[in-house]
This record gives sequence, structure tokens and C-alpha cells, in this order.
Amino acid sequence: MANVVVVGAQWGDEGKGKIVDWLSLEADVVVRFQGGHNAGHTLVIGNQTYKLALLPSGIVRPGKLSVIGNGVVLDPHHLVDEIAKLAGQGIEVSPANLKIAENVTLILSLHRELDAHREQASTDAVKIGTTKRGIGPAYEDKVGRRAIRLMDLAELDTLDEKIARLLAHHEPLRRGLGLEPVTAQTIRDELTCVAPKVLPFMDTTWDLLETARRDGKRILFEGAQGALLDVDHGTYPFVTSSNTVAANAATGSGLGPKAIGYVLGIAKAYTTRVGGGPFPTELTDKTGELIGDRGHEFGTNTGRRRRCGWFDAVLVRQAVKTSGIDGIALTKLDILDGFEEIKVCVNYKLDGAFIDHLPASQAAQARIEPVYETIEGWEGTTAGARSWADLPAQAIKYVRRIEELIEAPVALLSTSPERLDTILVHNPFQDR
Ligand code: IMP
Repeated sequence: MANVVVVGAQWGDEGKGKIVDWLSLEADVVVRFQGGHNAGHTLVIGNQTYKLALLPSGIVRPGKLSVIGNGVVLDPHHLVDEIAKLAGQGIEVSPANLKIAENVTLILSLHRELDAHREQASTDAVKIGTTKRGIGPAYEDKVGRRAIRLMDLAELDTLDEKIARLLAHHEPLRRGLGLEPVTAQTIRDELTCVAPKVLPFMDTTWDLLETARRDGKRILFEGAQGALLDVDHGTYPFVTSSNTVAANAATGSGLGPKAIGYVLGIAKAYTTRVGGGPFPTELTDKTGELIGDRGHEFGTNTGRRRRCGWFDAVLVRQAVKTSGIDGIALTKLDILDGFEEIKVCVNYKLDGAFIDHLPASQAAQARIEPVYETIEGWEGTTAGARSWADLPAQAIKYVRRIEELIEAPVALLSTSPERLDTILVHNPFQDR
């Protein structure tokens, strides 16, 4: 029985929440391994909608253990708020169903301020369009070896020297940017007031996960964002600040690479992106608007309108390779219902030559032009389909062509936000 890693195969917002929720029914443990509360996972269960940003999607299911791994950046104040919000919806989060890595990096108010300041100070051409949640600055401090980590809240006698080390970097930076100075006492207060609320969740999660793995428990690793937002493999610098590819499930949770079994990539039947950066198949016309309206393409967290475009097989094929994707869950096919024709990007043209991958250079990424194949659309609806027999023949043809182009099979087809509206081809938890 394989463990399963779920990763986005585009620029995030592929509908991971529903798929993770669907899979979590078969999992014992659900783990977040990167990112922070920049993620937005929407779960629709019966007539309830849960919007999660930081907590693993398994949290809404009784009897499942949720783990926030060391690869995440955690805003403790946001955590407390998200737990309170769920409590208001009748979901109890306690140390019995949530464990947080003791070595997780904390996001502080100075990270949020820095993130927002940089965004506001950037011109449109270079604006990353971050979620302003402090994700990037927190990861910078982690690799800069000056971050405050969860366990530091349990060692208050040494917290001051850690804050001093952090401020030795941030004070001159803030001065240079014209930001108000921040005192050590402010940071200390911000941390000590929240410490009693988050420390009960702290655990040695790498050990706990290894024990679970050895005991044959099924672990579901829940990726956030998408492969094209990966800090190494994405559209740099228009990316998030963590590795979003599947291999990071191991590093970000403290397990060896063999703990990762099946890699399930999630892709929409078209493409969306929020924030700045290249988007070869973007549609800035009425068709793009129509896809956005029909697909309710607004950020779960920030409410921003998402940019929309045709399915880009080049990007997803690349994600299949950089994440080692075994199968794809294709989502939101119904948004394309009724289109007379649908385009799929099969190649790029760069300076007059065809290329079959996204070039690494920022300038080249901005210059590439999509090469399209046009596929006949279908009449009737795919919404709510629960078997292949429910799908129009032409919709099946579209899915088959995508499989060919991305060099990976479709393991699941999601046909509405409802959990049961799913066509299962291959159960990722079953051995291949
Ligand atoms: P950050 O992760 O807030 O630093 O934002 C960096 C880039 O990643 C921006 O383009 C964001 O719009 C994008 N991003 C971050 N989280 C998500 C997500 O959950 N879905 C889609 N895009 C995201």
C-alpha cells in the first residue's frame, strides 16, 4: 500500500482541497510539508464549505491525524484564528488530531510587513503578486539561519538572544527601506502571548511519521501551490519561496524519499494563475473572462481574480517530470462544457524555433509563444458525471489527448466540487 503525495501540476488552485479530502477518507495521516497560510484549500462536504489555508485538509475528518511538517512556515496567530474559525463550524482541533513539527519556522509580524512593503514598492513589471502573508521573508530567515522556530517558544530563557540575532538582520534592512523600527520587546510579546496556545501541538513529527509509516499507516502528503510556483523549477522569480515539487514531501516532513509512494498531480482542464509572471496561454479576451466567471476563478484567500487560459500541455508535461507524477487528477472539465472548440498548447515557439519545454530564462519565458492544437468541443454536460459512460464522447477524446500530451494517465476526474462527483480510474492508495 503506497503513501500518496498530492501536488499541483500548474500554478496552484488546481482543486487540491477536494482531491485531498476525497483521498483522506482512506488515509490515516495527512501532512502539509511546505508553504504556509498562502495556500487556499476549499472543501465542500454536504452543505458545509470549509476554507483552509494552513491546516491539512484531513482536519475536517474525524479520526485522522493532521501534521504540519518542518518544511512549512507557520504564522502562530493565523493558526489560532484558523482553529477558532473551524471551531465555529463544529470542527474540533486539539493536540489529539493536530501535531506540529517542533522545528517548524515561524512567520512573525515583521515578515508580513516586509512582504507587503516590497509588494507595494515594486513596479507592476516586477511585482510578484505575493499573498503578503510573510511567506518569502520567513523562508529567507530560515535559510539565513536566524529564524525563530516553534521549539524556541518553549525555551524562553534563550529567546532573547534569538530575537537579537534576527533583529541584527532586520533592523538595518528596515532602516534602509524606511520602515518603522521594531523592538525586541514587541517581538517577544508577540511570541510569548501566543506560545501557550500553540505549544500543546508541538511534537517530534519526523519520528511520529516514521513510526506511522512502519506501522503500515497510510500517509497522505498534501502539497500547496503548484509545480510552476516551485522556487527552483517554476517561473522564477515569479514563484513562491518553497519547493512545491513532490520530492519535498520527504524533506519537508523529515522522512526518507522511499516514504513517498504514488505521486498524484492535480491539473485543471484549463490553466489559471494569480499574481505576476509569464503565462503563455493566457486569454485576455472574452473567452478568458468566460472561463474565469464559470470557474469562479477568484483566490480563496485574497479574493483576487485569477488569470485564465487554455490548457498548457507543455507545462503540465514538465511538472509530470519534475515531480515524478504517476497519475493526474483532472479537475473542472465541466467549465469547458458547451465550447465549440477548445485549444490545447502542445509546444512553444521561441525566436522562430519550436521547443517542447519551458525555458529556464526569465527573458525567454516572456518571449515564448504557444503553439495550439484545436479540439472540437462537446454538447451536453460533464458536470456531476460519476462514470465514463456519463461523459460526452468528445469530452473523453479531450481527456485522452491530454494524457498523450502530458505523458501521464488520468487517475481521477473531478466533475464538480462535491466529493462524490469523481470518476476513479486508478486508486492512488492501491499499488500500481
Ligand atoms: P507567496 O507564496 O505569498 O510569496 O506568493 C508568491 C506567488 O505564489 C504569487 O504569485 C502568489 O499569487 C502565488 N501563490 C502563493 N500561494 C498560492 C496558492 O495557494 N495558489 C495560487 N497561487 C499562490
